[in-house]
Amino acid sequence: MKIAVLYGGTSGEREVSLSTGKGIIQALENKGHEVTAVDFSPDRLDQVTALDVDLVFIGLHGRFGEDGRIQGLLDMKGLPYVGSGVLASALAMDKAKSKQIFSLNGLNTAESAAFDVTDESQWSSIEHDIKQQFQVPFVIKPNQEGSTLGLTIVKDEADAGRAVKTAAQSDSMILVEDYVKGREVTVPVMGRRGEEKALPVIEIIPKNDYYDFDSKYQPGGSEHIVPAELPADITAKLQEDAVRAHQLLGCDVYSRVDFIINDKNEPVILEVNTLPGMTPTSLFPDAAQEIGLSYDDLIQSFVDLSQP
Ligand code: DAL
Ligand code: MG
Repeated sequence: MKIAVLYGGTSGEREVSLSTGKGIIQALENKGHEVTAVDFSPDRLDQVTALDVDLVFIGLHGRFGEDGRIQGLLDMKGLPYVGSGVLASALAMDKAKSKQIFSLNGLNTAESAAFDVTDESQWSSIEHDIKQQFQVPFVIKPNQEGSTLGLTIVKDEADAGRAVKTAAQSDSMILVEDYVKGREVTVPVMGRRGEEKALPVIEIIPKNDYYDFDSKYQPGGSEHIVPAELPADITAKLQEDAVRAHQLLGCDVYSRVDFIINDKNEPVILEVNTLPGMTPTSLFPDAAQEIGLSYDDLIQSFVDLSQP
């Protein structure tokens, strides 16, 4: 097939996407496809609209790649692509909105509140409100960002102001959440609509305090335990919740759903990633390996699942 791979982009996760894209391009070439690699830039949409291919594989992460906008452009051009469409992508990217959908449907989420931080003169009153509403430790993060960029775990109230400022640098909305202490796990999901299956659960043991940017992308930055060593009922619940979250947002083909297992052994859902990382240190390929799918086979499966 003639397949274009969009990667790079201009979001904070550009470097991650360059690595994801490189992996996808290599895998597609290994599978015999004719690949057009596009280092995407939102100010050069002709790079995309001029494509003459059978399928577009989106290897972008974050803003203008994972948030539904590029998907909308491809829809308008009638170019088929791998993965979730406009609405699911936009919802998953918006952590506050997706959390509302999860909790309305009975999935456990951490208590949270979102604040508009467009107007810098409001930041100190927002900081005040946060301290009224939340007790340390809590988490402040940009509402629409990935790879933990702009995220602070606030352990001391004195650090709240700085955390607001940090998160506000990446987004006009910030999300404040109770910090859930527990084991960090993730569940890849793949399949055709209505037939999605969860892959094995992965537990993440970061070398740093938590699964921050370096733990995610430095080789050896974290240990991935696949399958996670968990009681069977908790594994089943995580897999069930992951498929449900994927379906609630209307995702397509694949996603990866992140959770913390709290000290009562309950899965607390953090978010759905519609374009999860496919880098050498990423999680999804490790779970695929566990069920006998090599990286190249996994990428080919996504292509197959995208055929009508
Ligand atoms: N946002 C990164 C790429 C991930 O979820 O894997
Ligand atoms: Mg994410």
